[in-house]
Amino acid sequence: MKSKKTFPFQKSIVFRLLISVILIFIAMTILSNFAISKRQETLMSEMGEELENVLVDSQENDILLLIVDNAQLKSTTEFQMYSFSIMIATILLGSLAFFLIIMHVIKPLKVLTEKVSLIDIDNVESLRNEIVMSKGGYELEELSKSFDAALNKIYESYEKQKQFSANVAHELRTPLAVLRTKIDVFKKKQGHKDAEIEYFISTMENNVTRLSELVEGILFLSRDAQPQYSQVNVRSLLEEILLDVEDKAKEKEISMTIKGEDVVVLTDDMLLERTLLNLIDNAIKYNVEGGYVEVSLSESESEVVIQVADTGIGISDEKKKHIFDLFYRIEESRSRVTGGYGIGLALVQNIITRLGGSISVSDNIPQGSIFQVVFKK
Ligand SMILES: Nc1ncnc2c1ncn2[C@@H]1O[C@H](COP(=O)(O)OP(=O)(O)O)[C@@H](O)[C@H]1O
Ligand SMILES: [Mg+2]
Repeated sequence: MKSKKTFPFQKSIVFRLLISVILIFIAMTILSNFAISKRQETLMSEMGEELENVLVDSQENDILLLIVDNAQLKSTTEFQMYSFSIMIATILLGSLAFFLIIMHVIKPLKVLTEKVSLIDIDNVESLRNEIVMSKGGYELEELSKSFDAALNKIYESYEKQKQFSANVAHELRTPLAVLRTKIDVFKKKQGHKDAEIEYFISTMENNVTRLSELVEGILFLSRDAQPQYSQVNVRSLLEEILLDVEDKAKEKEISMTIKGEDVVVLTDDMLLERTLLNLIDNAIKYNVEGGYVEVSLSESESEVVIQVADTGIGISDEKKKHIFDLFYRIEESRSRVTGGYGIGLALVQNIITRLGGSISVSDNIPQGSIFQVVFKK
């Protein structure tokens, strides 16, 4: 059975506020009463002095009748004004004290707001940020605990999904490898060239390649391997990549150039190659016949910039926001026979972030897109 939790009054914000109100109220009442009675005393002593003067002037045998009307004393306009200003001062002072207390009470709320605003759903690790507020009152602590529990649940479910897709991807690896071997063997065995069979085989081959890329991509995203850093000559790396994609570019009569000096970056060569290959592959895939792909390198004191520019179909501003999302493909490219599953750019962003860089996309002029990768030195 769940034990009933006792409400910790002393830690409750409501309780603290209530006590503050009562204390301020008492303090202000005492203060105003004190000020008013002080004034009364002065008035009385002034009257006493006046009386003494009268007594001095009077003859010894005179009978003196003195009637002091307390009500009359209080109701003099001067006294009324005085009490009124004391009342206003008390209200102002009390409000100020209460305002300061409220500001003090909601300060932790601002801290919590800041902590929550630092959580970025695109950066899953930020879900694990510590947001429980142990100071600042019972209610706030409970609220932050509920937030924290909800975020932890989201994180756990993300981890489960990641594990699940990694397992599926892992299981798919073997049958895909078998399929690929069978296709290769069949291709070699085929003596005659039957156009229909050849078409069938190449479709099989293309799709096995797409599936393998997907599987490898998912496996890569599910691993949090640490990058292996070394000094990498980006220009040489790019030259190798361009050789690898040469055939693809020739099919569409796309010319490719590298502009810029030799740039050396401290990075993971395999990971950087993977990113640049993805960007260049897209630049060819989403290009027009006879277009060009230009990769440029530049370096300043503080950063290294790698740009991949194409003359392709371009990306609208609305779509730019989503192209780095996993499995996102722009509708028009979905219908294309060639192309992957929208995993490439998600992978690119994941890698660049792991390597401590950033990636952005802009429009090329007059047409196409420019992908820019920046590494801080
Ligand atoms: N250079 C580019 N020019 C135009 N569109 C692009 C370019 N690169 C990527 N895209 C768009 O972004 C989507 C996501 O790219 P990516 O993650 O590499 O997936 P894939 O290439 O498998 O479709 C692509 O489907 C395509 O619509
Ligand atoms: Mg791609």
